[in-house]
Amino acid sequence: MGSMHVDLRESWAIGPVEVPTRLVLAPMAGVSVQAFRRQGRRFGAGLVCSEMVSCAGIEHRNEKTLGYLRVAADEHPLAIQIFGSDPAAMGEAARMVEAAGADIVDINFGCPVRKVTKTGAGATLLDDPELACRIVAAVADAVEIPVSVKMRRGLRDGSWDCLSVGPRLVEAGARSLTLHPRSAQQMYTGSADHRLTAELVDLVDVPVIASGDITSRAKAQAVLATTGAAAVMVGRGAQGNPWALREIVDGDGGEPTREEVVAELVLFIRETVRELGERRASGFLKKFYGWYLGRGRFPRPFKQELVVLDATGEVERRLLAAAPGALALIDELEAGLPHGDEITLELPISIYGGG
Ligand SMILES: Cc1cc2nc3c(=O)[nH]c(=O)nc-3n(C[C@H](O)[C@H](O)[C@H](O)COP(=O)(O)O)c2cc1C
Repeated sequence: MGSMHVDLRESWAIGPVEVPTRLVLAPMAGVSVQAFRRQGRRFGAGLVCSEMVSCAGIEHRNEKTLGYLRVAADEHPLAIQIFGSDPAAMGEAARMVEAAGADIVDINFGCPVRKVTKTGAGATLLDDPELACRIVAAVADAVEIPVSVKMRRGLRDGSWDCLSVGPRLVEAGARSLTLHPRSAQQMYTGSADHRLTAELVDLVDVPVIASGDITSRAKAQAVLATTGAAAVMVGRGAQGNPWALREIVDGDGGEPTREEVVAELVLFIRETVRELGERRASGFLKKFYGWYLGRGRFPRPFKQELVVLDATGEVERRLLAAAPGALALIDELEAGLPHGDEITLELPISIYGGG
């Protein structure tokens, strides 16, 4: 068994893509917007990932779907994750992902949600390794950037299917595997069984990323040391809590002040409004108020007050009234970020079809 003193600040690589730390920010639908990813990079994540993007949505040039392909200048290295069940369409979608500026294209073989699995995508592909391999091969053929796969342990409780399917996906062209060792049936109940992660690491010669229940530095180090994984992935633990990422990477476990919490939240609000527009952002942001202000940081009635507001400007006003000292921190944070045109790379013309 390896030493528990694992260096989270060590770099590693997926194919030619260097990843500066051993912490990866998880793809989360309804959460992993650009603002979340850029913040994750600032707090020590070595790699960030978009939420899963529908390959059918890309194929049909759905405007909202294409919005998920916008990459900011300061989020590299970045993976964009796609889901679908048709190899040719997935190859096409991967080309768009590459053209959009992603460093890695990630394939979702883990989503347990019925809306996705009933289309034959997500975790159901673990039950059809042949098709799963054809998808990986088609994607790997379509792009120059490395292809990675994220999967669950299998569909049903107790399944070990990831251990038979994983090596075949590598043979088909996957340059990295992420394992969330819960079954699809489990959804998010029970716990992630990282003994399977250790087994998978032994079976493949590509880096494995361990996902599931990693919320502290101690847990991250234990999982890295006992599994041999190249990196850990953090999802729910980072919701409204980028400070958890810093604690995991650097061991800097100081609780943020109220001013720091408000500064990060206000910056997050501003960036999300720019990204999604005020109308979509105001609904999208509501869950974040509870995430940021909870954990005993602010009284419950204050959170409830914010959640019923629709204008994000009013939310910002009340946050700043509760912690006026945050204003100077926000200025400082904004001064350190790329500005205006530097932020978002233009989508390639081809994404809009026609050309
Ligand atoms: C709200 C939410 C949305 C998620 N969306 C995705 C997704 O789009 N793609 C994916 O591969 N995994 C998704 N996941 C799974 C996470 O990436 C991660 O594997 C899982 O939450 C376990 O890690 P955690 O315990 O650190 O949260 C999602 C999880 C949550 C909680």
